[in-house]
Amino acid sequence: MFSIENNNIVALVAAAKEGFAKAYAPYSQFQVGAAALTATGKIVQGCNVENASYGLTVCAERNCLAQGVISGEQAFSAIVIYTNQDKLTPPCGACRQVIAEFLAPEALVMAVNHNNDTKQWTVNQLLPDAFMPKDLLEK
Ligand code: THU
Repeated sequence: MFSIENNNIVALVAAAKEGFAKAYAPYSQFQVGAAALTATGKIVQGCNVENASYGLTVCAERNCLAQGVISGEQAFSAIVIYTNQDKLTPPCGACRQVIAEFLAPEALVMAVNHNNDTKQWTVNQLLPDAFMPKDLLEK
């Protein structure tokens, strides 16, 4: 796993918590915040955005990475997911695929909650043998 400086972890958790406060989750009432560290050292954040057409909901992690791309960043070295649930929230399958697109296999994915409990994974642990851009080359 790539190591991330402690001050960056602290800043990521704070940004993910900020994202959490902006969540639009009137249907599930399950607010999620996310924050990612870009390869250039910037922090971007996201939250889940739900929709009356439930399937159009977009998770915090994917909105966070999209925010990063919009801000001109396409490489990230860590992503943090914040909820206020005692059970830490792992990224869903769709988010794992999008995380694998933009973070290296050894990059850090960390869940944190209101108690400051944490769980850490590498991208590769969450999605081994991911379908990657290179898999499109031999079409
Ligand atoms: N959700 C996320 O934003 N990230 C996750 O990792 C898990 C699920 C959101 C989607 C939906 O708005 C709500 O949580 C309940 O599934």
